[in-house]
Amino acid sequence: MNNFNFFNPTRIVFGEGQIKEIDQLVPKDARVLILFGGQSAKKHGTVDEVTAALNSRYSEEFGGIEANPSYTTLMRAVAQIKDNKLDYLLAVGGGSVIDGTKFIAAAVNCEGDPWQEILVNSAKDIHTALPFGSVLTLPATGSEMNANSVVTRYQTKEKLAFKSPLVYPEFSILDPTKAYTLPPRQLANGIVDAYTHIMEQYLTYPVDAKVQDRFAEGLLLTLIETGPELLEKPTDYTLQSNFMWTATLALNGLIGAGVPQDWATHMIGHELTALHGLDHAQTLAIILPSIMQEQREHKHDKLLQYAERVWNITDGDDDSRIDMAITKTRDFFEQMGVKTRLSDYQIPADAIPTMIKQLGEHGLNQLGEHGDVDLDKSRKVLEASL
Ligand code: NZQ
Ligand code: ZN
Repeated sequence: MNNFNFFNPTRIVFGEGQIKEIDQLVPKDARVLILFGGQSAKKHGTVDEVTAALNSRYSEEFGGIEANPSYTTLMRAVAQIKDNKLDYLLAVGGGSVIDGTKFIAAAVNCEGDPWQEILVNSAKDIHTALPFGSVLTLPATGSEMNANSVVTRYQTKEKLAFKSPLVYPEFSILDPTKAYTLPPRQLANGIVDAYTHIMEQYLTYPVDAKVQDRFAEGLLLTLIETGPELLEKPTDYTLQSNFMWTATLALNGLIGAGVPQDWATHMIGHELTALHGLDHAQTLAIILPSIMQEQREHKHDKLLQYAERVWNITDGDDDSRIDMAITKTRDFFEQMGVKTRLSDYQIPADAIPTMIKQLGEHGLNQLGEHGDVDLDKSRKVLEASL
């Protein structure tokens, strides 16, 4: 096992009806900004529930944070916070609202250009952020219990990520009933995103990290068992609660501690979203099977372990077991209703050079657990995804 330094300060309050706990969790004298997305949190009454839980605290609202949150929109929230001297943020939504809130929290006291300081320079000179909590409505990203955030600048078609220990949520409320209203596309996206988060931290090379491996395999198996039934029965509390907690555990740092990590699928996927507007999970469903294929020699041992322990594939020689494991992964994504080919989204071969150029401009030319996914390899991955 590799050395690691694991820290996660986010309190999780889990279960139906737990939004009321906000009253205990937010400082009594806080001046709160409640942030949410397009309409779901408002329409389904979650914003009202949060406002009621805040009791007599002063609060304002900021709605309209888009899927793949826009830098320009988030900067309007920063202005509202400064104008009205607000000092506590409450994100109500999925990964986009929570990620957007993290960026806003860091941008409020940022001297200089927030895009440059926080996203291009990875917040290395950011020393303060506003405190915030979240109410999760879409299990997928793990943003509710991590310190990562991804923001898009639509003007320049750029989607960049940053992480900073300053932007862990102080608390997150995980009420599985809040995910009952998710449309099948978002539910399926969440399953594929969580699955890929686990794979990015598991499918590398063995370092004898037994607990991390078994934990990751348990989470993958839970998604495989729960996913298809959940799509049929999105209002089943048991299914939804197991899914919600799995998605959080998939990216809260625990399974990634002490093991090598990949993340090439995500980084290539971000360019696909930035340039072609695909949902985050759609990009992962396209790229992950091709990464498994292109990197099969480096990932050989873990691919065999994955084949056996997750998919029960024990017959045949190494190559055919690995082929089968890749096919099973692709089939699972397709079964969830998320298409796995660029052509399914009308993205042609001649769109690939621009994606490669953009990866280069963002310095993403040494991806993967060995840093060997250079621009040429990324091009091969995209070509294999057509
Ligand atoms: O805007 P509204 O009307 O609220 O609709 C949203 C949105 O259109 C809807 N939705 C959310 N909760 C709902 C609901 N609809 C009905 N009922 C509910 N309970 O779902 C749509 C998608 O929401 P979004 O927040 O964009 O989805 P997701 O949670 O998948 O977040 C995606 C973003 O997170 C980033 C992605 O890149 C993308 O920008 N990621 C963040 C990560 C992190 N912080 O660690 C890691 C991930 O790999 C990912 O990159
Ligand atoms: Zn993801």
